[in-house]
Amino acid sequence: MKIAVVGTGYVGLVTGVVFADLGNEALCVDIDAAKVDAINKGQSPIYEPGLDDLLQRNLEEGRLRATTDLAHAVRESEVVFICVGTPPTDTGEPDLKYVDAVAAEIGRALNGYKIVVNKSTVPVGTGDRVRRIIEQHRTEPHEFDVVSNPEFLREGSAIHDTLNPDRIVIGADNPRAAMKIVELYAPLERPMLITNLATAEIIKYASNTFLALKISYINAIADLCERTGADVVQVAKAMGYDQRIGHAFLQAGLGFGGSCFPKDVQAFAHTVQRYQLDPTLFQTILDINHARAGQFVAQIRNRLGELQGKTVGLLGLAFKPNTDDIREARALEIIRLLLDAGATVKAYDPVAMPRVQSLFPQVHYCRNAYEVAENADALALITEWNEFRQLNFERIRQTMRQPNLFDGRNLYDPQRMRKLGFYYYGVGRAADPSEFKTVL
Ligand code: UDX
Repeated sequence: MKIAVVGTGYVGLVTGVVFADLGNEALCVDIDAAKVDAINKGQSPIYEPGLDDLLQRNLEEGRLRATTDLAHAVRESEVVFICVGTPPTDTGEPDLKYVDAVAAEIGRALNGYKIVVNKSTVPVGTGDRVRRIIEQHRTEPHEFDVVSNPEFLREGSAIHDTLNPDRIVIGADNPRAAMKIVELYAPLERPMLITNLATAEIIKYASNTFLALKISYINAIADLCERTGADVVQVAKAMGYDQRIGHAFLQAGLGFGGSCFPKDVQAFAHTVQRYQLDPTLFQTILDINHARAGQFVAQIRNRLGELQGKTVGLLGLAFKPNTDDIREARALEIIRLLLDAGATVKAYDPVAMPRVQSLFPQVHYCRNAYEVAENADALALITEWNEFRQLNFERIRQTMRQPNLFDGRNLYDPQRMRKLGFYYYGVGRAADPSEFKTVL
């Protein structure tokens, strides 16, 4: 099938490359000529494991090409995917200007029946809006259908997630359009759900908000564990064995960042409000998450006292491992709080350092974890990259000014770290149980 994919961010580029790899002809469209050039040279503008290889292969075999010419791509294709960004406005509502602009241009370029598939994360009702815009801008009465096909891929495993989705949601008010998209996804042999447009649009937000809720929930439990001598890691493990709850997304820590969860929960709260419903539940998910960085820095401050003149080393900066993405990364807020308190901050991240460097030039960027630890009064794990799992902590302790370890992702074994001579703090993990008194 001939497809156009508009927008070459995470969702767009991965969608284009994966559909090309399944044997379709994909035209990837972006307004950024530099990005388009890079893609046509086989260089992915985003860091994503496996993407470069797949991109190069499909370019070489002629199934994929990038262009800035949206109208041409629409005219050449049967199916047009909209994968442009929906960044939050000042109020936290998604800005639909890019979606609107693409819809208008699709309308102007229509030269026959097309299926316009929205993959961008947009509030319920946007499919209808896209339909209206296309109608307003088409110059001839060509038919088209609008479909919502939300994307659930995670950064760092985007290719795998796109090839092996838990489910494929196809929201369409016209069954003919839905069947065409079913055909496109058929080779993946994954469960497919066909719904109306509004249902598909809500599924995306309801899913992401529920995952964010799980994280904020376990973080709220972590705070109680911390005050009572309980261990949230064991609490979460035991909860997870209940099949109705499951183990996933119950890792307490510094909370969620990234380009999706914070923005989607905020947007969902707005949508709920727009329909005169109570947004408190959704707002609370964000409030709990927002407090995590401050609470973590307060723990460091409790231990070190005045932070002026102290050195804190950070391991990891990206919002999660295996990505260089720092959008809403917890590290940014932590750095800001530490610098405001007068601390010297050192940091290392395998790939995200250049991005943070432009925001915080005053941080001392290091070549590895050991350099971060040298002469530090505290070492704080922020992002659980694999390379931090098996560090030589004997060596680290010897080079630190004070052996204080703050584990923001509960990566390390508290007992082992204490045996090695560290003061160890894990989020929601009992320090010395004898320090606790129950309040009964
Ligand atoms: C998420 C959704 O998983 C994906 O389905 C959607 O399409 C986009 O948003 P992503 O933002 O790439 O994907 O990252 P994800 O792996 O879900 O992690 C999000 C954040 O939650 C990270 O900051 C991570 O550190 C944090 N997290 C995750 C926790 O704090 N605890 C957990 O148990 C799981």
